[in-house]
Amino acid sequence: MGKTVHFETHAVRQQAEKSLHREHSVPVFETSSFIFNTAEEAQAVFAEEREGNIYTRYSNPNTDELVNKLCKLEGTEDGIATSSGMAAVFLGFFSFLRPGDHILVSRNIFGTTHLLITQILSKWGISHTYTGMDDLKQVEKKILPMTKILYAESPANPGLDILDLAALGRLAQKKGLYFLFDNCFATPYLQNPIRFGADLVIHSTTKFIDGQGRTIGGAILGSAEYIREVRQVARITGPTMSPHTAWLLSKSLETLSVRMEKHSQNALRLAQYLEKNPDTERVRYPFLPSHPQYKLARKQMKLGGGLVSFELKGGSERAMKFVNALKIMSITSNLGDTRTTITHPATTTHSKLTPEEKKESGITGGMLRVSVGLENIRDIIEDVEQAILHSR
Ligand SMILES: Cc1ncc(COP(=O)(O)O)c(C=O)c1O
Repeated sequence: MGKTVHFETHAVRQQAEKSLHREHSVPVFETSSFIFNTAEEAQAVFAEEREGNIYTRYSNPNTDELVNKLCKLEGTEDGIATSSGMAAVFLGFFSFLRPGDHILVSRNIFGTTHLLITQILSKWGISHTYTGMDDLKQVEKKILPMTKILYAESPANPGLDILDLAALGRLAQKKGLYFLFDNCFATPYLQNPIRFGADLVIHSTTKFIDGQGRTIGGAILGSAEYIREVRQVARITGPTMSPHTAWLLSKSLETLSVRMEKHSQNALRLAQYLEKNPDTERVRYPFLPSHPQYKLARKQMKLGGGLVSFELKGGSERAMKFVNALKIMSITSNLGDTRTTITHPATTTHSKLTPEEKKESGITGGMLRVSVGLENIRDIIEDVEQAILHSR
């Protein structure tokens, strides 16, 4: 390949080596282990003196292809493909934290990550502080001597708040913290956090990377030095991805750029429609000029992404009525699908948060989160229009 290979070309052309059969499309390597020609070869591979696959919990051509491709797309060196997005988040924490450590967490994060921090890490003697991450001076004040990790998401789930990645990256570097960043909503096509100073990027590949809601998976990516730590933990604890899932996801990545262009175009159209509708209270989309961090979003993201969140006048009751009146959208908590999906975060993905936590994260009873799919957007807007009328 040439000197400057572009995103789309990496996404399509980064492939596992051909087998003896010279196949064009990479096959699935459904094998638990790999064989050696001699006992000495086995010894050399086990001793890491020679490269080679040993066992699929350690590595496999399909997971390697996926990770190599994701590394090219995120602009980093190495990674681990995991059995879910949560496994990637867990590996990120577990590889770098020890009892007595502390993590500083952005207030607006995915609900299950919040539970991992508050209900699991706390049992292992790891404390945390939640903070808004808009005001960097306030963030700096909350860093304690035992703080090890700065953890954030942007656009955040479900309110689509945008954080200044470069400023957070500089702060983490100045204070010697690991900066872990969940890039699930943006995908590597719209935003590359490592360019802005993140040390490790986490993905739930379940979402836009899969793109059709078929698999559960994740990835953690970063420098070879950091991933060496994570790999050791992953090999021993075993939350790695199956070859079949990796095979599907690597093929999905071939179309990520075109899908993200269309998701973003459709989502912007829906957000513009909702903003003009007199029945909505607040519409959030990173590329709407009314978004409080619009300029920042334009600076660090290529496009606004596929998610829109909004509130209908009439609170929780109206929101539920609206959802029930929809004819096309699927009511499901997943996102990043070709099909438009809708969630009521307060009673589903973020239902385990206490009322105070919901308030702090801006999750109201009337808030709805839409993952805009690849249908004709005129049909989706028509569906929203009729459901708004029916829910009055
Ligand atoms: C932002 C974000 N991070 C992480 C996850 C967890 O991913 P998974 O469901 O693949 O474990 C999700 C899932 O919804 C998510 O939205």
